[in-house]
Order: sequence, then C-alpha cells, then structure tokens
Amino acid sequence: MNDNLHQLRCFGCGTRVVGTEARPDFRCSACGDLFEVEYPGWGQRQGHDRPNAGALKWLWRERRCSSEALDHSGVWRFRELLPILENFGNAVTLCEGNTPLYHLPRASKALGIDQLFAKHQGMNPTGSFKDTGMTTALSVARERGFEWVACASTGNTSAAMAAYAARAGMRSLVVIPEGKIAWGKLAQAMDYGAVTCQVNTDFDGCVRVLTTVVKEANIYLLNSVNPYRLEGQKTPAFEIAEAFDWNVPDHLIVPGGNLANSSALAKGFREMKELGLVARLPKISVIQAEGANPLVRSLAASNGATLEPVVAHTRATAIRIGNPASWRKAARAIQETGGWCLDVSEAEIAIAKAELGAEGLGCEPASAVTLAGLKKLRAQGNVRSGDTVVLLLTGHTLKDADYTIDFHRGTLLKDEEKAGLEEKIEGLRRNAQVVDATPEAVLAAVKGKG
Ligand code: F0G
Repeated sequence: MNDNLHQLRCFGCGTRVVGTEARPDFRCSACGDLFEVEYPGWGQRQGHDRPNAGALKWLWRERRCSSEALDHSGVWRFRELLPILENFGNAVTLCEGNTPLYHLPRASKALGIDQLFAKHQGMNPTGSFKDTGMTTALSVARERGFEWVACASTGNTSAAMAAYAARAGMRSLVVIPEGKIAWGKLAQAMDYGAVTCQVNTDFDGCVRVLTTVVKEANIYLLNSVNPYRLEGQKTPAFEIAEAFDWNVPDHLIVPGGNLANSSALAKGFREMKELGLVARLPKISVIQAEGANPLVRSLAASNGATLEPVVAHTRATAIRIGNPASWRKAARAIQETGGWCLDVSEAEIAIAKAELGAEGLGCEPASAVTLAGLKKLRAQGNVRSGDTVVLLLTGHTLKDADYTIDFHRGTLLKDEEKAGLEEKIEGLRRNAQVVDATPEAVLAAVKGKG
C-alpha cells in the first residue's frame, strides 16, 4: 500500500494511522470516530506530490479518448486524486462513473430555475452510486490480499459489492434486513454469487451484527465506514465540475441515509478547491425522509453536536436508517458549504419520483427526495431562480419496480399520507389497462376512451 502518499486521519480526534493499521471496523482506537483518507503531499505548495491543476484538467479530458481499460472508468480516470493503491493494476473496475448529467426542462419550468440538472448515478453498472465507492474500496481489499469482503446494506451496497467481488474472483457476505429491501437489489446480490443473510432486524441491527463478525473473522468490511469507499464516491464531484467547465454549481442536493455520500462529495469539492481546480464549493444540502430523519433532528436540536438515533420508517427503503454512521461528516459538509438539511413526506417523495419519471428519468424513491427537497428550498427562498442546481439521483428506477407500480395502482400511499395532495397524485398516476386484443380497443385507449 502506498502509505507515503496517503494516511488515515480520525475525523473526531485527528489521530493518524497508516492505511494498513486501521481496525477491522474502521473506528479510531482513541475516540471511536471514523477516518478520512488524507494526502499529506498535497499541502506542500511546491512539493512534487502536489498535483498541478491545469495539467490534470488536460490529462483527464484526454483519457476520455483513451483505449486503456482504466481510463474507461469515470472513477480511475481521476486516479491522480486517488493515490490509494500501490499498483493501479490491482484496480477492479466495471467501467463505473462517467454518468450522464441531464437538464430537467419540466421541473426547471415548474420551479422557475433555468439551470436545473440531474446527475444520474443510477446509470452505473449495478444501477446505483455505490459502484463508484466499491471500485476503490474493493480494489484496496484485493491489493491487501483479502479473500472475503462483507457489508450490511439496505440493498444497493450489497448489489455493488457482490458484483465487484465476483469480478475480482473474491467471496462476499451480504447482511440485509429481512423483508425491508427492494427485491431487485436482493436479486442482484444472489445473481453475483454473494453469501446472502437476511436477518430479522433493521439496517442498524445488521450493522451491529456485522461489526462483530468482521472483528472475529478475516473479512474486509465494505460499509461506508470504510474510508476508501468515500474516495471513489468523491469522484462525481470531479465529473460535475468538469461538466460545468470547472465552474461549480451553486447547489448540490443529495439524499441522506447512512450519510456517507454527502460527505464524500464535499471532500471531492474541498480537495479540488485546495488544489486550485475550482474556485469555490457548492452549497450541499441533504434531504431525508420524514420517518428516517435523525440528521434533521440533530441539526435542529444541537446544531449537529449530538445525534439521537430514531427507529426508521419510510418506503424509500434505501434510506431507511435511524442511526447513520457518518452523521458528523455530513453535518460538517452542510455547515462548511452553507447548505441545508430537510425532510420530506412519503407523498412528497412519491410525487417527485413520478415527476422525474415523466421527464424520462426514472429513479429510486430514495433519489427522488432531492427534487422534493428542492421544492421546499425554493419555497423557502434558499434557492433562487438564477442559481445552478444539481440533484444527485442515486439509484435506477428498476431497483424498486414494486414501488412504482404500487404508486400507479394507487396502493402506495394511505389516505392520511395523501391529505391535500390527492389531485396532484391523481394527475401523475398512469393505469396499465387491460384491453381487448383488437386495434379498436387499443386506439380507444389512446383516445382516452378505454
Ligand atoms: N440513495 C440510495 C439509492 C441508496 O442506496 C443510499 C444508501 C442512499 C441514497 C443514501 O446514501 O447512505 O451515503 O447517505 N444506501 C446504503 C446501502 C445504505 O446499503 O445500499 P448515504
């Protein structure tokens, strides 16, 4: 491992350890907090380890036309800012990253914001943003000689981990809450050959069980407490900045679950600013579901000093998390960039998801919280009409097809959840009709007479 270039720094007490010496649960022995990867050479202004901003921009663009396998990855294309491997030949890649940035014409018009975009991380190889972090952390596991990797998951991490482990010829263990993850995600873990344990608890309970397992067996933990995950998950920040010709947007809006992604993206923007690639940071706002909103509560009650876990409930199962591991990092990301943390209701999530679907951009319910949150930020006057806004869509619509079908069948939301929004919801619903096998019947359906 390239310990000359990187080290791990505890987010809580600042203790530094070399990468290979972190505990199996990636908690600091001194204070129990989480680590971040740090690159000491970058701080030395003239040092030969400090990357040159102009040269990097040129190199990264050139790689888009390269025929080398590693350059086809939208993560490893930025490898100068990922010096975590001794040998980049150990990288395990499925050509992740390089995801599309879509303009949202209808939502733009409805909200009066011209420059409104969606960065669709659901367009990654396993259908979620987790691939960007899995390629980096699993590559570290492989380089360090591990045979087994494991994660607790609300579904997407397990799908990504299983795929990358299969690619690397490694074994993977998935611990998921029974009955509380979308079928598409469970199917992926099985398809990619993971040992899959459905446990009769919630996500937070799965984390507790697995933390003990990795301490007792030689298994490499790939939850987002693993700081190398966040290194990959910072790279969409580079892609966003590159897409705007290195002028960062005013706002980046991300869903909040275990709260690693918001902090990873903030790290990406912070590092770009430190290295002179961009001039400022976007305001990063984190949106949670009302029934799984421990960070919203923490910021309101103690300005992010303490967090009270909650028992989480939301049909956006990906973010059904009551005791998020990376809450301190996320609180810092919001506070340092001047963003906000809000929660949105089940009906607001369902409406926003249907609206994104109607733009031709399906996504998971957990991703749709971003549009629902933007509506609130706009109404509060925190996002202005001239601002450039990027929503981070984290998962593909096919991950949770049941949710979409239940919405359109009218069985997703209870009456009390719909209160005041019935008309809006009815306007978005599409019924799959059963019609006779005749051209007349189909034409009648087209004319709205079916
Ligand atoms: N969106 C989707 C689709 C997710 O799968 C997750 C997290 C999030 C948002 C929240 O990101 O945890 O970094 O705040 N899913 C994890 C999993 C927990 O196990 O797949 P976060």
